[in-house]
Amino acid sequence: MEGLVMKTCEGPVNIAVIKYWGKRNDELILPMNDSLSVTLHVDHLRSRTTIACSPVFKEDEFWLNGKPFPINERMRTCIEEAKKHISEEKKELSKYKLRICSENNFATAAGLASSAAGFACLVYCLAQVYGIDEKVVDLTILARRGSGSACRSIYGGFVWWQKGTSDDGHDSKAVQVASEARWPELRAVILVVSHKQKDVSSKDGMKRSRETSQLLHFRSKQIVQQRIESMIKAINAKDFDAFAEITMKESNQFHAVALDTFPPCFYMNDVSRNVIDLVNKYNAYKVDMGSSTRYSAAYTFDAGPNACIYLQDKDLSEFLSIIVSSFPSIEKEYVRGLPVEVVSSSVDIFP
Ligand code: ADP
Ligand code: DP6
Ligand code: CO
Repeated sequence: MEGLVMKTCEGPVNIAVIKYWGKRNDELILPMNDSLSVTLHVDHLRSRTTIACSPVFKEDEFWLNGKPFPINERMRTCIEEAKKHISEEKKELSKYKLRICSENNFATAAGLASSAAGFACLVYCLAQVYGIDEKVVDLTILARRGSGSACRSIYGGFVWWQKGTSDDGHDSKAVQVASEARWPELRAVILVVSHKQKDVSSKDGMKRSRETSQLLHFRSKQIVQQRIESMIKAINAKDFDAFAEITMKESNQFHAVALDTFPPCFYMNDVSRNVIDLVNKYNAYKVDMGSSTRYSAAYTFDAGPNACIYLQDKDLSEFLSIIVSSFPSIEKEYVRGLPVEVVSSSVDIFP
């Protein structure tokens, strides 16, 4: 086809250890507090997006997971913002309409960060099509306009989203704290408890929390910054005890905020709570067996029932065998990736 330009890119998910929940500006997606995550760079958890642009296309079109999907306001913003930074030699392309086709190879809108992988991938792909110079334009700021957590998926390893202080959002961006090579022994196990789409999206849930949860306002002002500092120290020192304790307390507090929201949001379910119980029992068992650390595994849950468990390589096979015997109906896909291991189930554990 005459004048057709086409690019395909992949984007990874990230799972926060210090949670983002609550915006101070909805339109610009400016958060109430900083957050920090680990990017899970594995084949089994990724978005893949193809963007084509051509003078013959009549309208912008989008397909998500094989079905036509309306181009929402956030996608529109990402496209328009990207066009502002188009390179001189690609200027002509900004007049052409786009066909965008994206596929997630894991559950969409189920608390496994599909919006993070999806929008990071979209923005990265737009930057490729439009020849945007990454040294001049911060892609984390562009990705943030699609979904807040997406800014952290632009980098691998350990990534810190700094909330910034400006009203226009030019300093609300993600930076890499350490690459995955800093802590190669760290692993993540993903337990897919349910593929079901969540009842309340992250966008709507956090808006409701900001309007009704006093705990959210307290946490974002009084608790998070100290935890960010401690978490960065823990990562740099590869201190698993500190990393694990902050991670689990953050997950607990985020879900406490969800319950403090009115009407409340229930993101975890009974299986999620069984997983927490199992991690606590595993940690106690390891201490009994003479472990020199207080924690051997740490759970965290985003806005959905699916679990992410961080642990170290030395404990991985033992922990997986316990998971398999405790949840016998789990369907396993076992993939080695850096810095994570993934176990995922494609069926509900307790349907
Ligand atoms: P999750 O926990 O999966 O991040 P969210 O409620 O934050 O769930 O966001 C889900 C929304 O993200 C979807 O309804 C869709 O609008 C958007 N999304 C998910 N995947 C993609 C993708 N690959 N490309 C563009 N947008 C996506
Ligand atoms: C619980 O980034 O999905 O996963 O910015 O409205 O798109 P929007 O929300 P989103 O929220 C993620 C919330 C979280 C915690 C986190 O990833 O930090
Ligand atoms: Co999301």
